[in-house]
Amino acid sequence: MISSVLPTYNRAPLSFVKGEGSWLIEAGGRRYLDLGAGIAVNTLGHANPELAEALKAQADTLWHVSNLYKIPAQEALADKLTELTFADTCFFANSGTEAAELAIKMARKYWYDKGLPEKYEIITFEGCFHGRSTAAIAASGAEKMVKGFGPALEGFVHLPFGEWEELAAHVTENTAAIMIEPVQGEGGIRVVPDEVLKSMRQIADEKGCLLIFDEVQCGVARTGKLFAHEYAGVTPDIMMIAKGIGGGFPLGGVLATEEAASGMTAGTHGSTYGGNPLGCAIGLKVLEIVSDPAFLAEVNRKAGLLRQKLEGLMADHPDLFEGVRGEGLMLGLKCKTSAADLVANGYEQGVLTVPAHDNVVRLLPALNISDEDITEAVARIDAAATALES
Ligand SMILES: Cc1ncc(COP(=O)(O)O)c(C=O)c1O
Repeated sequence: MISSVLPTYNRAPLSFVKGEGSWLIEAGGRRYLDLGAGIAVNTLGHANPELAEALKAQADTLWHVSNLYKIPAQEALADKLTELTFADTCFFANSGTEAAELAIKMARKYWYDKGLPEKYEIITFEGCFHGRSTAAIAASGAEKMVKGFGPALEGFVHLPFGEWEELAAHVTENTAAIMIEPVQGEGGIRVVPDEVLKSMRQIADEKGCLLIFDEVQCGVARTGKLFAHEYAGVTPDIMMIAKGIGGGFPLGGVLATEEAASGMTAGTHGSTYGGNPLGCAIGLKVLEIVSDPAFLAEVNRKAGLLRQKLEGLMADHPDLFEGVRGEGLMLGLKCKTSAADLVANGYEQGVLTVPAHDNVVRLLPALNISDEDITEAVARIDAAATALES
């Protein structure tokens, strides 16, 4: 008999009733060090007091009005995001998928309004993940995501990841945009080199198409910069965010330049809940905390500590691991044996990690994880690795 919850997930046999910082606790009291953080969502750990305070203050005041009206919390978050980034304007949604939907619509509408309706193709890269909507699965093109769901939405050109020198040849007069995660998350923590992002910007400018960065997973201080593309010193025309910006509250958004957003006039897009006061109040608090240079410096210091310990782990288990990759606190352990087995062994040791494609175990801890918890986490992964070896 089908479960009352639609069985679309392969769930681990774990269930938590409480969270405290980087820890999750089961009903029986067993504690787990959480290096998944809701898949890069719980930016500041579980039940963060500052975020809880922001949520309560807003909840005591106003939960929801519609976008028929001005929403001060939304404007405050948009002001802060535009102040801190390349963007001139923001639209708020509730998830990364919704952000992807708008990014795709925005790019296409931009060229349509320029009198070029045939310019609607979007170039994406193997291993990308932009969500599970009809447009987002078509953007990915992965058979396991599109199979069985009818004709895939037209207009996506899928290129291999890594064959960057081929890109320019694939940008045609029909290309509306190049869309890429500066660090692939689901694809297995694959960092796109800075020079590649730079050359993408150049190709987009020279050939006349937009550049879209999906920073849903790698954004919001996760890599040690507020946004991952800052390492490359280039900016996109459109950027998707979600996950970390809400710190655990559903919030997503699209940031864009005035030019790229020019087609999105009144009536072209909308959302009942997108930009609601609760989400935006929390988003603003998250952003205030993580954009502080002192906070970012700490993320980088902790990332260095974690990476150093993980390199030791690689050396201790050469038959299990190929290496560590990633940026900041978005790290991947490339496994020689099954990444899923290592994750499952971690449950036994009370440590939570997340599998990704390419046989990678993802580590995406809260950005304020303590040094002690980093040490403890690596010790537990070490124990899981040893158990797997025996
Ligand atoms: C890079 C990226 N884009 C988009 C999404 C979709 O976000 P959501 O699950 O919030 O819809 C994800 C989710 O994992 C993601 O990692």
